[in-house]
This record gives sequence, C-alpha cells and structure tokens, in this order.
Amino acid sequence: MSGCPYFERRQLFFKNKPPTTEENDNASQAGVNKASKGGLIYGDYLQLDKITSAQLLQSELKGNKIHDEHLFIVTHQAYELWFKQILFELDSVRHIFISGHVRDERNMLKVNTRIHRIAMIFRLLVDQFSVLETMTALDFFDFRNYLAPASGFQSLQFRILENKVGVLDFLRVPYNKRHYKDNFEGEDSKTLLAAEQEPTLLKLVEEWLERTPGLEADGFNFWERLRINIFDGLNQEVEKIEKMEDSEEKEELMDELAKKKEQFTTLFDEKHHQHLVSKGDRRLSYKALQGALMIYFYREEPRFQVPFQLLTSLMDIDTLMTKWRYNHVCMVHRMIGNKAGTGGSSGYQYLRSTVSDRYKVFVDLFNLATFLVPRHWVPKLNPSVDRFIFTAECYDSSYCSSDDSD
Ligand code: HEM
Repeated sequence: MSGCPYFERRQLFFKNKPPTTEENDNASQAGVNKASKGGLIYGDYLQLDKITSAQLLQSELKGNKIHDEHLFIVTHQAYELWFKQILFELDSVRHIFISGHVRDERNMLKVNTRIHRIAMIFRLLVDQFSVLETMTALDFFDFRNYLAPASGFQSLQFRILENKVGVLDFLRVPYNKRHYKDNFEGEDSKTLLAAEQEPTLLKLVEEWLERTPGLEADGFNFWERLRINIFDGLNQEVEKIEKMEDSEEKEELMDELAKKKEQFTTLFDEKHHQHLVSKGDRRLSYKALQGALMIYFYREEPRFQVPFQLLTSLMDIDTLMTKWRYNHVCMVHRMIGNKAGTGGSSGYQYLRSTVSDRYKVFVDLFNLATFLVPRHWVPKLNPSVDRFIFTAECYDSSYCSSDDSD
C-alpha cells in the first residue's frame, strides 16, 4: 500500500465522475464514519505514536530544557528516515542487477526511476540543513554538552549507504588514526561488515557497462574504431596547423594539440588505466569505461537513451552527496568553529577533507567529458548492419521477466 490512504479511498469512491460539493461532504463524512467503525486510522497506519513520542530532550531530562534541542532531534530523525528510504531504493536496484533482471532491458526503466528518486531525496537532504541553521551557535552551545559523546559518526545507515553505493575504504579519510568502523560494536558492527561484503552499486553498474552492446572486438568494435577515428582526426588537425605561417598562434595550437594527443594516448592505454585504478583515480574497469563512453556518444539512439539517463542520475547522486558533505561542514563550522567534534575528530578540519573526489563513487563518469570529440569523429552506425544498437534483445530467456521480485 502506498500514498495517502484517505486520498486513495476518495479516488475509489468517485471513480469515473468528478464529485459535486455535496458528494464531497458526504465522502468526508464516509471517511470519518469508516474510521469510527474501526477501519484503518491515519495515526495507526503510520505508527505516529512511536514517531512523535521519540523526541527525548536530554536538556529536559537534566532539568534545563533548551528549546532548540527539539529541532536538533527532529532534524536528525528526519535525515535518518530519508536515509532509510534511500537504502530501501538502493537495495531494490541492487537486487535487480544482482538477480540478472537488468539483462531484460525493460527493467532499466525501473532502475532509472529509483536511482532518480534517490537523487531527488538527496536534493531535499542538501536543503534541509537550512532549517537547522536557524539555530544559532550559542543556542547549540546551551545543550551540546548534554549529547556528547553522541555524534553523526555513529550513524549506521549513513555508513551502510556510503558502502553500498561504493565509497572505497582505502580512500576514506582517517581521523585520530581511527577507522570509521571503530564507532560500531555488537550487532551494528556485524550489520556493517555484512553490508560491506555485498556488491556495491558501483560494481554492479560496472558489470552492466561491460556488457554494452557494440563493444565486442569481433562485432562493431567501438573502441578500436574510435581510436582510429580520433588519431586520424588529430593528425588532420596537425596537417592543417603545419600549413600555417610560423607565428605565436601556430606554436600555441601545436602545443595544445600535443597535449590533446597525449590525453588520448593515455585513454587508449590499458596499463595506464590500471595504474590509475590502483591509485583510486579511476574506479571503473577498462571495459566499463569504454561502455560508458559509448553510451555518451550514442545517447540519442533509442536504445541508449535510458542508459544515458541512468549515468546522469548516478552523477547527480555523487554531486548531491558532495553537496550534502559541503553543507554539513559549513553548518558545523558555523556551530562549533574549530572545536573538536563530540565523536572525537578534529571537527571542521576533518569534515572539510571529506568534501573531495575521494568520496565520489562515479568519478569516471564526470571525467568522461575530457574525452568527448567532435561528432564526425564518432564511428558511424549503419542501422541495417549495426542492429545491436537499435534492437533491445533478450540475451537469455530466463532473464526475460519484468518482475524484479520485490
Ligand atoms: C548542529 C548540527 C551539527 C553539528 C555541530 C555536527 C557536527 C559534526 C561533527 C563535528 C562531525 C565529525 C565527527 C565528530 O567528531 O563528531 C560530524 C559528523 C557527521 N555528522 Fe554531523 N553535525 C550536525 C548535524 C548533523 C545532521 C543534521 C546530520 C544528519 C544525519 C549529521 C550527520 C553526520 C554524519 C553522517 C557524520 C559523519 C560524516 C563523515 O565522517 O563523513 N550531522 N558532525
């Protein structure tokens, strides 16, 4: 069941004809009567008694009730609820990939919708800090001591979320020589470890990209064709510049072109790619990177439109998570200046260091823009020969179900 239960009931009631004012009144009354006759009630359905009685102000318990602590608690709870929804969507998407249902391209729309939804939730979470920022640093100071050593460091859902998307462990910033996992014990620690063993969204997307139709060396062979076209194109540019009169401009153009050539030489060098992966500068496999670039170039083709939207949403998630970190650290700076955090880190300094590409998961997708080339360099498709790109095939009939079993 989903959506506002009252709204749904009213919809059913007035199926096929718009309600008159009188009917509207009757319907409201019907809702009340049903509720009073023992039907499902809003508060029960949403278990509001649990949610609205979960704001225990530490300041009040200590006999010194501080008004703003209520906002502080509600804000954190709202964040945690949204983290829960994000994890719910993320798990369902990972399930579609893991179960192989993604091989049926019809399921890509579902994947896309849910990944886009995650991005929209993050957008909300980025903005939500502004409500908490109506609290002044002094107001926070009044109750901060009561909540120590509780800290966002101990947010289990946030860590699971980072791990399931694919933040790499060796790229995390340590604090006071401690690992983020040191904050978790018992069941929480087990849950975190278990979540770490599961395939990340990054890994699953990587495998999916590796299967991009058109990459096959014995087929369309996109990568080799692209390589030939790019170097042909660059060589033609060199010839054009060489014909120019000697001048400062000619020298500059030559330098620029040499840099471009070097950039593309590294793109087509698999060893160089592996080196960058080992340093964490690239995250996708060489083959997956090729698939992503192919989707970029042929994004207007019907078959690649949905995949292109997915790559765009994945970048949105990365961007919004970075904005989340940025807005959080700005707020922390305003609230506690350079004081240490209640969780034991240096506070502002530590958090500032997390606003970086180290925490971006789909960083390769951003960097692809470096390698975009003029349209006429992109290998041409011939609809009657290169059918792979125009027809969505089902590779294995056992995968061809639109059901993702959730
Ligand atoms: C007045 C408001 C807030 C202050 C002063 C604050 C302060 C801090 C500080 C200092 C840290 C670093 C760890 C430590 O030493 O404690 C931290 C981490 C964290 N906080 Fe907040 N925070 C605030 C609000 C929030 C809110 C509303 C959330 C939402 C869930 C949140 C989630 C987190 C998370 C997930 C971390 C871990 C970040 C990481 O290690 O990358 N914080 N916070």
